[in-house]
Amino acid sequence: MSERPTKAILRVLNGEPVWPLPIWIMRQAGRYLPEYRETRKQAGSFLDLCYTPRLAEEVTLQPIRRFQFDASILFSDILVIPHALGQEVRFVENEGPKLEPVTSLADLARLADELPLGRLEPVFETLDRLSQSLPKETTLLGFCGAPWTVASYMIAGKGTPDQAPARLAAYRDPAFMAALVDRLVRASTAYLIRQIDAGAEAVQIFESFGAALPPALFDTLSLDPIGRMVQGLKSARPHAKVIVFVRGGGAHLHRLAAAGVGDALALDWTLDPAQVLPGLPAPVASQGNLDPLALIAGGDPLNQGIDRILSAAKGRPHIFNLGHGILPETPVEHVAQLIARVRGA
Ligand code: CP3
Repeated sequence: MSERPTKAILRVLNGEPVWPLPIWIMRQAGRYLPEYRETRKQAGSFLDLCYTPRLAEEVTLQPIRRFQFDASILFSDILVIPHALGQEVRFVENEGPKLEPVTSLADLARLADELPLGRLEPVFETLDRLSQSLPKETTLLGFCGAPWTVASYMIAGKGTPDQAPARLAAYRDPAFMAALVDRLVRASTAYLIRQIDAGAEAVQIFESFGAALPPALFDTLSLDPIGRMVQGLKSARPHAKVIVFVRGGGAHLHRLAAAGVGDALALDWTLDPAQVLPGLPAPVASQGNLDPLALIAGGDPLNQGIDRILSAAKGRPHIFNLGHGILPETPVEHVAQLIARVRGA
């Protein structure tokens, strides 16, 4: 693809300022939408929903039909990678993911060394369907988790405060941790390449737990692995665009930007865009970063939060988004209020 893109999100990912800011929302398909809750009931388990292309396509399209977001993100989960590698993964209602913990090189040896792409065929079929059914102005996003975030679930077998089990493993058994991260770098890169081939125009890498890492571990467990993934993807598919979201990565933002990790950096809600955006080296774009709780609150706090981002981002390549995923208790009308204000600016 050598011609200039016309889709707003792809233009921003090329470093071009676009106004009004294009907008999408992390976790935009989900439980705050009544139509999602309805389809979710029909699907049976959460993984069945991810692996049934007709239903995964349907829930991906639901927020687009309602709000005409500028990007549509594939409906799936970051934990399909450990699942495809052979780890037992279940999603328990109201509790979250449960995995059979992988805590040693011996456990790791029981998982596939290369990602069995065939097991993820339904995900690629979902992307293929979406590239045909989406409105022509909507950018199709693929995604995966960053190695450290996925590893933290694989090791603990569930979500944990401050990812303590995985952090302890990094100190006690660095050889295991390095092998696990390396396995995930290779698997995730292959997965992203295949997503691009199936129709994704850009991908987002979710490092949800960057805040847990002390500086001595951040480079080896987050910055370097993400850098290797982006490099691997871009050398295989030079036109692929990448958004990197390191939640809690504020202290490392300029190093992430300087290392060329991603076409855009997504900011969590703790960062002040007025301070951060002017320091990003061109053509690195940005994304974010409204507090998801301001979206729940609505009213003036929501309007003020939006305006603060708009004034910092005007004239810059920025994609409006939240600073983390939308929460299930968010009133749907507040999402409508958000979009009207961003598009009316
Ligand atoms: O953004 C989208 O709309 C696309 C779909 C998407 C899901 N998960 C669907 C989902 C994406 C991009 C994710 C990413 C994801 N999954 C992350 C990184 C982003 C983040 O929020 O930090 C993480 C850490 C996970 C792991 C995960 N999946 C957890 C912790 C949970 C349970 C907590 C929760 O939010 O329910 C899930 C389940 C999950 N993934 C749901 C959805 C819509 C809810 C499950 C349900 O409907 O029953």
